[in-house]
Amino acid sequence: MKFEFENPTRLVFGAGSLSQLGEAVRAYGKKALLVTGGGSVKRNGTFERAVASLNASGVSVVECSGVEPNPRLSTVVRGAEIARNEGCDVVIGLGGGSTMDAAKVMAAAVFYEGDPWEMIAHGQENRNLPTRALPIITVPTLAATGSEMNAGAVITNEKTTEKSFVIAKCLFPKVAVVDPELTVSVPPDQTAFGICDLITHVTESYFNGVDGTPIQDRFAEGVILTAMEWGPKAIADGNNPEARAQVQWASVVALNGWVQVGSAAAYPVHMIEHVLSAHHDIAHGAGLAVVNPAWMRFAAESRPARFAQFAQRIFGLALQHPEDAEAAKEGIERFEAFLRSIGCPTRLSELKIGDSLLGRYAQDTVRIIHNSEGLLPGRPPMSEKDIIKVLRSAL
Ligand code: NZQ
Ligand code: ZN
Repeated sequence: MKFEFENPTRLVFGAGSLSQLGEAVRAYGKKALLVTGGGSVKRNGTFERAVASLNASGVSVVECSGVEPNPRLSTVVRGAEIARNEGCDVVIGLGGGSTMDAAKVMAAAVFYEGDPWEMIAHGQENRNLPTRALPIITVPTLAATGSEMNAGAVITNEKTTEKSFVIAKCLFPKVAVVDPELTVSVPPDQTAFGICDLITHVTESYFNGVDGTPIQDRFAEGVILTAMEWGPKAIADGNNPEARAQVQWASVVALNGWVQVGSAAAYPVHMIEHVLSAHHDIAHGAGLAVVNPAWMRFAAESRPARFAQFAQRIFGLALQHPEDAEAAKEGIERFEAFLRSIGCPTRLSELKIGDSLLGRYAQDTVRIIHNSEGLLPGRPPMSEKDIIKVLRSAL
């Protein structure tokens, strides 16, 4: 076991914590670029409360609204220009993962010389990670991505139809103000997609990480079991504060690095889903709900023991022996049934995706990220043919 771990983000968690936003931001600047999405924060009063807290602490606000789900590169460029022209000294992402991701990359793009896509695009030789960004403060309004407390961001280049990620130390938010009350207005479908996303963050490392990580396994199982217990309650009653808080906390923990530390995991399901989102502009969590069970069936063929452990520990299935392939299969069935029960799609056809571009999705996935043999990293590494096979099984 050999690893390093650092997560410098200060976390302020709890119902009502939005009122601490001003104080948190004031430690880093006086003039904030306040980045928001398509308007939900205006409709539910969050925006007004955020601005009141900022102004009360002496922080003035310049707005950048209209970040779209699957945020576009042009939006990042627009936001960075506003921040530069207005002389903003801090950037706040107030919204879902899309808004927070766009805010993070805007904060870096302010200082970035050249095309900001160079920070992001994988598979390109001229990739150039950002080393500097304005201080970033995140305020999630949807429990899903974990972007609030990690150094990643996912951006779509609408010109090339590519969606890819950047991970850089300067993108760690200084503070994440995580107030579960802000998520009560999230509709049931987006709530379910968020639950699927957070679970997939830990299944990726659970199934693709190195062997011999019992603490990481238990962390991941704890996140999955908690999400499966409290997620349906948050969907049944969006105003249930405890359910919203448990799901929100699960989403933070699922991708702030604690679960993954030392696992050196690849994220094949995410890499495949990002390509589907790039081409079809679907919700990330909905795409994952389709790809993840299909990928699990494929991966279980080569590693039944790992999936049997999942079946036993998550669904309480009895194993005939550690490599019990039948139990492994049953565990995946039950996982897929859970996703369906909370309202997630589990077939590509439900996302109105047919079979005409399967080869293109596979090519794009592998072009964006591949190992030295040209395969999509994961356990097992996947060829384009494998990716097509998985997607075809989910039609
Ligand atoms: O845009 P608004 O009007 O705010 O509406 C949004 C949007 O329509 C709405 N919403 C958000 N908070 C709400 C609300 N509606 C009512 N009440 C609220 N409180 O929800 C819709 C979806 O928002 P979005 O931000 O797109 O969702 P999510 O949080 O799932 O973020 C998805 C994006 O994050 C990326 C995904 O690829 C995708 O682009 N990811 C980022 C990661 C990261 N930075 O670490 C990791 C993830 O794996 C993921 O790839
Ligand atoms: Zn995700």
